[in-house]
Amino acid sequence: MILITGATGHFGKAAIDSLLEKGTAAGDIIALVRDESKAAELKEKGIQIKAGDYHDYDSLRKALKGVDKLLLVSSSDLNDRLTQHKNVINAAKENGVTQIAYTSIDIESFTASVIPVVSQIHSDTADYLKKSGIAYTLLNDTLYADLVPMFAGEKVLETGIFFPAGDGKTPFVARAEMAEAAAVVLSTGGHENQEYAITADTAYSFSEIAAIISEITGKDVQYLKPDADTYIAELVKAGVPEGDAGFFAGFGVAIGKGEFDTKRSDLAKLLGRKPQGLKEFLKTIYG
Ligand SMILES: NC(=O)c1ccc[n+]([C@@H]2O[C@H](COP(=O)([O-])OP(=O)(O)OC[C@H]3O[C@@H](n4cnc5c(N)ncnc54)[C@H](OP(=O)(O)O)[C@@H]3O)[C@@H](O)[C@H]2O)c1
Repeated sequence: MILITGATGHFGKAAIDSLLEKGTAAGDIIALVRDESKAAELKEKGIQIKAGDYHDYDSLRKALKGVDKLLLVSSSDLNDRLTQHKNVINAAKENGVTQIAYTSIDIESFTASVIPVVSQIHSDTADYLKKSGIAYTLLNDTLYADLVPMFAGEKVLETGIFFPAGDGKTPFVARAEMAEAAAVVLSTGGHENQEYAITADTAYSFSEIAAIISEITGKDVQYLKPDADTYIAELVKAGVPEGDAGFFAGFGVAIGKGEFDTKRSDLAKLLGRKPQGLKEFLKTIYG
């Protein structure tokens, strides 16, 4: 029995779809959801639904009964994320779960990152998981290609890309393909106590991304390279809360410093094919 956390979120749903496509029976999959009203589509597919909240240990302990393998999708609730992840790992241990795959991050250095609020949680969770004694698989995910349109902005075709990422490059991967890699790890053997870089072979800068969007749309899309302070000030002027603007800017600065350009990739090996290129992905958005 395989349990997927965050099953009503993008990654969890995509991982379940991939498991089904790869031949895992719906009856062998449990979806952990915190809001059952969002699980109708999963129910229709024949997936078992269990209610559980990362903050509520007792709910997790009950939900994880009879589970062999678990995909722990990192929490999107930024309030004490480490405790949330520890609760899932502890509940898994109590229930004799044999393997946990965790969606971590592929970054140059956990300790030297300019976005410790992001990197530290993954590093701490990975350490805790490794020490739990349960077989682990760390899915060290790069940034989602799905974030590129968000970083580029809604008016990218009119105003260009305004993002403080300098000339840094990122090996973006479509979230659905990252989720597929998770499904491979859960449905095939030999991934115990392994770490995988879920990254593309090629990394792209935002100048290159602007050129790709120009080619797709036939419009002249420029990459404006603001510094982080200018970017934050512009976002705040447009009504974005300062904390959120600072959070987005942090990703730009980390990209600019090359933190995601780790030059390692295990994705093609896991998928058994070359992953979709960024240009192909962006065609689905701008084409
Ligand atoms: N690599 C990247 O580029 C990148 C980018 C963004 C995020 N991430 C990380 O990857 C994770 C998955 O991404 P995603 O796109 O699938 O995010 P998402 O669509 O926001 O899904 C997050 C899931 O976590 C669930 N969740 C949040 N708090 C919970 C709690 N207290 N108890 C139980 N479940 C809880 C949410 O439940 P509900 O459906 O009820 O809200 C949702 O199903 C994110 O949570 C984040 O940690 C990575």
